[in-house]
Amino acid sequence: MTEFRAPKGVPEYFPPRSSAFLAVREALAYPARHAGYGYIELPVFEDTALFVRGVGESTDVVSKEMYTFLDRGERSISLRPEGTAGVMRSIVENRLDKAGLPVKLWYAGPFFRAERPQHGRYRQLQQVGIEAVGSEDPALDAEVIALADEAYRRLGLRHYRLDLTSLGCAQCRPAYRESLSAFLAGLDLDPATRERAAQNPLRVLDDKRPEVQAQLGDAPLMVDALCTDCQRHYDQVREFLVDAGVHWQEAPRLVRGLDYYTRTTFEFTHEMLGAQSGIGGGGRYDGLMESVGGDALSGIGFGLGTDRTLLACEAEGLEPGAGAAVAVFLVPIGAPARHVCVRLARELRAAGLSADIAYGERGLKGSMKAADRSAAPFVVIVGDDEVATDTVGVKEMGTGEQQTVPLAEVVAHLADRLASTTTNLDHARKDPRVQNP
Ligand code: HAM
Repeated sequence: MTEFRAPKGVPEYFPPRSSAFLAVREALAYPARHAGYGYIELPVFEDTALFVRGVGESTDVVSKEMYTFLDRGERSISLRPEGTAGVMRSIVENRLDKAGLPVKLWYAGPFFRAERPQHGRYRQLQQVGIEAVGSEDPALDAEVIALADEAYRRLGLRHYRLDLTSLGCAQCRPAYRESLSAFLAGLDLDPATRERAAQNPLRVLDDKRPEVQAQLGDAPLMVDALCTDCQRHYDQVREFLVDAGVHWQEAPRLVRGLDYYTRTTFEFTHEMLGAQSGIGGGGRYDGLMESVGGDALSGIGFGLGTDRTLLACEAEGLEPGAGAAVAVFLVPIGAPARHVCVRLARELRAAGLSADIAYGERGLKGSMKAADRSAAPFVVIVGDDEVATDTVGVKEMGTGEQQTVPLAEVVAHLADRLASTTTNLDHARKDPRVQNP
């Protein structure tokens, strides 16, 4: 029993599973990076008021789940519970919107929510997100959704679905809200639910309890109350989604946990994850930039859960990032060979080939065990004879075949053979799709 433990509800990723985590993160970001989204590295903590104003005071995320503290200058600081508000703050502060619209950005990293920990629900959660700000083009809504869908497909995921709806805008939502409130007032609801209905009647639509759901059959729906502009926008989003080859389900009762959404709103869920099935979600936000002090620019984006996407891959038996950690494992036998191997490792790495060495003078048997464990497709063996003749032994682990290669040629020799050998190694980094065709 160690003295220290990681904080409750905080997952850690270490080898071998951490390579799967990295591969998932890479796969989630890959489509956006290839669609013109630039990278933004955001602060992990911000002024508390940014989240209160941006995400919404009435949301659980802000009112119950934020890690908030006073810093040494007595300023109220919060660990970021999500990324969209911070991106808006950065666009406004750094005038990123002055260099042409839409501003397209992607980000990745940890977010913090003091939730009750359970499988797939963490207090430090990882997301890959994108935001596209400054265009109301419905084709952009479709692009954002299609990029998420492509990311999941690249990983080989199949058991997920996309729920889609429109939440209307400042023109049509107030009237809808009123009609929903009037409907809810006539139902048999407990005081806590009434309280929620008063704060945000839309939240009640998402109540999972059967006694509440049973009464909601005739509840008015936002999609039936959209204004002409919102209806046209939503129709066009769906036409572009067809162009993009994306399948979705209409989800007129979809409610998201953040207050800023307007118009297009969506969520991806995975059917094998139990209660925490949301693997990603997002939508359009009309008033957010303004609420943090910027111009009235509309934006749309998503946040994809890296932790949960990894769990989804594992549930489907996929192994993102599987394969050897290095391409070449060097085994020195004897002191002079160790110098040869250290120099050779440097040359291999400089040539773009990953390499590791059997450290710690383990002898041939112990070193070959380490080589096996590394799963490297090629092992280079250097003993006194090889040092004397300026050669090395190159063993292909898949076939067991070994040959002697001049030391001066071994980098080129291995580069050649690795290029024609199918390993997961570099493919994983360059194109995650190769792993799970
Ligand atoms: P969100 O739905 O709150 O949206 O989070 C996005 C994703 O993060 C979720 O679908 C889920 O996969 C993951 N996630 C959230 N909370 C947890 C948790 N406690 N443990 C594990 N995973 C979690 C947002 O955060 C918005 N900022 C997305 C967005 C960007 N909308 C527009 N632009």
